[in-house]
Amino acid sequence: MSNIIDVRISYQKQYRIMVGEGLAESFTDFCSERYSSQKSFIVIDEKVDSLYHERVEKMCRKYFDETHFFVVPEGESSKSVTQWNNIIDSVLKIGLERGTPLLAVGGGVTGDLGGYAAASILRGIPLIHMPTSLLTMVDSSIGGKTGVNHDTGKNLIGAFYQPDAVFSDVNFLETLEQKEWITGLAEVLKYAAIRNPDLFDEVESLTQKPLAPNNRWVNIIRESARIKTDIVQEDTLEAGKRAYLNFGHTFGHAIEKLAGYGHISHGEAVFVGMIAGTYLSKKLGHPVDEARFAPFLPLYKQQMKSLPSNIDQLIETMKTDKKVKNNILRLVLLNEWGSPYIYECTDYSRLRDTWKYALAQFN
Ligand SMILES: NC(=O)c1ccc[n+]([C@@H]2O[C@H](COP(=O)([O-])OP(=O)(O)OC[C@H]3O[C@@H](n4cnc5c(N)ncnc54)[C@H](O)[C@@H]3O)[C@@H](O)[C@H]2O)c1
Repeated sequence: MSNIIDVRISYQKQYRIMVGEGLAESFTDFCSERYSSQKSFIVIDEKVDSLYHERVEKMCRKYFDETHFFVVPEGESSKSVTQWNNIIDSVLKIGLERGTPLLAVGGGVTGDLGGYAAASILRGIPLIHMPTSLLTMVDSSIGGKTGVNHDTGKNLIGAFYQPDAVFSDVNFLETLEQKEWITGLAEVLKYAAIRNPDLFDEVESLTQKPLAPNNRWVNIIRESARIKTDIVQEDTLEAGKRAYLNFGHTFGHAIEKLAGYGHISHGEAVFVGMIAGTYLSKKLGHPVDEARFAPFLPLYKQQMKSLPSNIDQLIETMKTDKKVKNNILRLVLLNEWGSPYIYECTDYSRLRDTWKYALAQFN
């Protein structure tokens, strides 16, 4: 008799991402079809709470008898074990059951933190994401990555935990600051580069005016969410293709790390990284041109603080990226627009030249 047992566990879970203007009704319909619990628990960003508390409460009260709020202090420092523990304390004190949904309302910090709390409480309670920043609508609410930071680095504690649904109501973006739009925009431009170059023109026409939500943004957010969903579905646990989502990111992470987190935003750093990645792709003979990013350059330049300029340090920092294997830098580059590939970089003089070019665009 064999003593081997084969276990097949599917990580796939079906859920719906809704993108639109005003989704309160769809939210109530979804909850009444899905949950029998009369309680709900809201984890909400402090600023979003101050702007939208009544709207969120009213929306929840339409179906749930009891709605409890946990307000997350604004900023990256809230993505901590302490805040995760505070959420768990609140939930357990209130006495929620396994069927009670946790609704995460806010940007990526609240989504990652609330998501990880949902994954941990009673070994997993239902999670709904209600993203309120552009970055979260197009990126962090999709794909199931949840977690908090550790003193030694970002996102080091966490779990893959898929939500039951995502409600991206673009009306929330009315109050989003320009710098947060620009952070999210970098991820949209990434999707343009790696999957759908038509997005470049769509976004370009919208960024000539002040950034504000409208129906065309609904389409752009929907298309971005579709692209991320497609890639994540092909590689749920990040074993292969999901790496394409890191286009511009290995360069960007080096900038963020050297500048000191918070000094240059993630989106700004990724934008510089995408210029570098495109330039290097072109130098390797691929038919792409970093000039495609030129129309967006003024947006980033107008708000960006000075970039780190020591190229040797930037390259050394790239080598500390968690995606480096056997000391070989694995960069996402482009065969052509819409077609990424992994380039194993050992030619550091070419990399030096790439950094020189990219940094010069911001002088
Ligand atoms: N899970 C993932 O796959 C994933 C992917 C990318 C990024 N992230 C994480 O996301 C985080 C960054 O997300 P973020 O940029 O949304 O940051 P954030 O959550 O800090 O939000 C940015 C700012 O926008 C404000 N804000 C949010 N919605 C608003 C609204 N509607 N009106 C006015 N202000 C609003 C917040 O108060 C905050 O000041 C990082 O921690 C990053 O690690 C996670």
